[in-house]
Amino acid sequence: MSSQDIPEENLPSAQDHAHGSVALADTDNPFADPGLPPHEHRVQDIDERAAKRSERTVALMFTLSMLGTIGFIVAYVAIPVDKSIFVWPIGHTNALNFTLGLTLGVSLFLIGAGAVHWARTLMSDVEVVDERHPIAATPEVKAKVMADFRLGAQESALGRRKLIRNTMFGALALFPLSGVVLLGGLGPAPGTKLRHTLWSKGKLLVNMNTNEPLRPEDVTVGSLTFVKPEGLEEHDHEFLTEIAKAAVMIIRLQPGDIKDKQELAWSHDGIVAYSKVCTHVGCPISLYEQQTHHALCPCHQSTFDLADGARVIFGPAGHALPQLRIGVNSEGYLEALSDFDEPVGPSFWERG
Ligand code: FES
Repeated sequence: MSSQDIPEENLPSAQDHAHGSVALADTDNPFADPGLPPHEHRVQDIDERAAKRSERTVALMFTLSMLGTIGFIVAYVAIPVDKSIFVWPIGHTNALNFTLGLTLGVSLFLIGAGAVHWARTLMSDVEVVDERHPIAATPEVKAKVMADFRLGAQESALGRRKLIRNTMFGALALFPLSGVVLLGGLGPAPGTKLRHTLWSKGKLLVNMNTNEPLRPEDVTVGSLTFVKPEGLEEHDHEFLTEIAKAAVMIIRLQPGDIKDKQELAWSHDGIVAYSKVCTHVGCPISLYEQQTHHALCPCHQSTFDLADGARVIFGPAGHALPQLRIGVNSEGYLEALSDFDEPVGPSFWERG
């Protein structure tokens, strides 16, 4: 049935809406607002012992939340980073990450659950209807809001139920400590470690795919090969930390194509070695266009001209890629002649 089918005298008038009297409209009108159902008291409203039980339940949740936060801090300090545990059904997992996630989650959940249980069982549940009004409140409305707010605060019994109030403030005050503790996970300042890599005089250039040392004849013109320093193995504890600084790409150019004099001097028979770590924010450079000799960083499209000292020709990178000086040892293998002579990676390390 559409509103056109209803006799006009049965439809609520604009005045009915304005004065909130729609709830009293004729029951024959199918669109009449049925109004609020009668309020039913909860057991906690009429039985003080039930209210006390709810109060203790809420306080218990907030107290367990505090224990969760303390457990988080203890776990962070006491559990070794590389310890693993068996957890059903996920299997073996990192003990520290698992415990931090569990304690943090439980602690946060219990603050929320305590607040919900408090609101559902002890705070006033009388539904209140407030009619729409102009956005700018009149002084009378503001006074009413403040009076309602005070009444709400009074009905929440925050002042009277000191056990809930104190444990809630305890849980809320303790919880941010988890974030403070996590700051320790940022680790010590890097100091000069970023200025040095595993490369040094005599270190062989090892192909990262085959794990074999490279000879000049293995590197064809136009190819791109990724290498690591001899002695660095994937199962090493520090592998990821070290390869993040020492990853190098090898390209063979026609010696006549190399425009930069230093690049030519630091190369071997057209083979040049550059850091693979982008000088913008450190993504691994992985795209090479052999016709133009351009290397492209996939993250924000910084482009480096590998025939011209790897200078930046496009994109946000602020510095050319650092070049590794290379040569050939007495057995015919490509070797580094020194470490990089500048920090690799984002050029902001050079500021100041
Ligand atoms: S990290 Fe390479 S362009 Fe941003």
